[in-house]
Amino acid sequence: MAIPDAYLRKDWQMIHGVPMVYAFSLDWDRIDNFQSRPDDIVIATYPKSGTTWVSEIVDMILNDGDVDKCKRDAIFNKVPMLEFAAPGKMQAGTEQLAQMASPRVVKTHLPVNLLPKSFWEKDCKMIYVARNAKDVAVSFYHFDLMNKLHPDPGTWDAYLKKFMAGRIAFGSWYEHVKSWWNKKKDHPMLYLFYEDMKEDPKCEIKKLIHFLGKDLEESVVDKVVYNTSFEMMKGNLTANYRMVPTAVMDQSISPFMRKGVAGDWKNHFTVAQNETFDEDYKRKMADTTLQFRTQL
Ligand code: PPS
Repeated sequence: MAIPDAYLRKDWQMIHGVPMVYAFSLDWDRIDNFQSRPDDIVIATYPKSGTTWVSEIVDMILNDGDVDKCKRDAIFNKVPMLEFAAPGKMQAGTEQLAQMASPRVVKTHLPVNLLPKSFWEKDCKMIYVARNAKDVAVSFYHFDLMNKLHPDPGTWDAYLKKFMAGRIAFGSWYEHVKSWWNKKKDHPMLYLFYEDMKEDPKCEIKKLIHFLGKDLEESVVDKVVYNTSFEMMKGNLTANYRMVPTAVMDQSISPFMRKGVAGDWKNHFTVAQNETFDEDYKRKMADTTLQFRTQL
């Protein structure tokens, strides 16, 4: 799984007006023209919002809580990321998906307007997971430090400014969460919050079970809750991204399963950064009913 240096630490590439990971940006027609299947289940998120967590939960639900079955492969193979690509060296998400049996679970970080049309046309079920902006910024910063497919994030202060301006992969967090929230009015979508999942995982897992049309016994639900806790997933080789080569993700810099809490931003934001952020946040989020909790 070696990645040619040509893809490493390259600056974002603009795709339809949105900054994109350079390696993903090549041959974008494969995304625009992607053909969905009516029983595809899409897990859409802004990066670092709980994608892996919900992906593992969905896989466990679809496999009736069978822990061994769920360890059949790494999470990034069980739930391929649609836009992922490292041409010539790793299989693109679109290629992985083409070879998968239905029902496929598809991960994507794409903003609503970049999602291939086919998913809307086929009325595919979608699960969106949102997490408060401050924790996302901190998590994304640490991810950029260790993920060499992304440019070096620079200092935390410089990074936070870029986050607020949407000059990072997949663009503006503010636009992402709002536009997916608006889309939920006219499309079958379950919109979940990371903070709710932390507070009461069983309740949110039951929503997922219902949305997926499954009916699981209480003991199976408990098994799903237990096996998808942060601690269990951190120690699970198929869930913790340790199967990705160090040349791509150097987890000695920052682990993928880093903290897994709500409110870690308080350990990183200065008082001044927090004030500036809050002021800007109010302006950017004035036109939505969406509400986030930044602590529990
Ligand atoms: S990615 O790369 O965008 O797909 O990352 P994503 O999976 O969306 O988000 C990674 C953050 O989610 C945390 N995480 C969890 N938190 C609680 N419980 C469980 N089970 C769990 N699994 C992953 C992970 O630790 C990252 O957050 P931070 O704040 O960096 O710890």
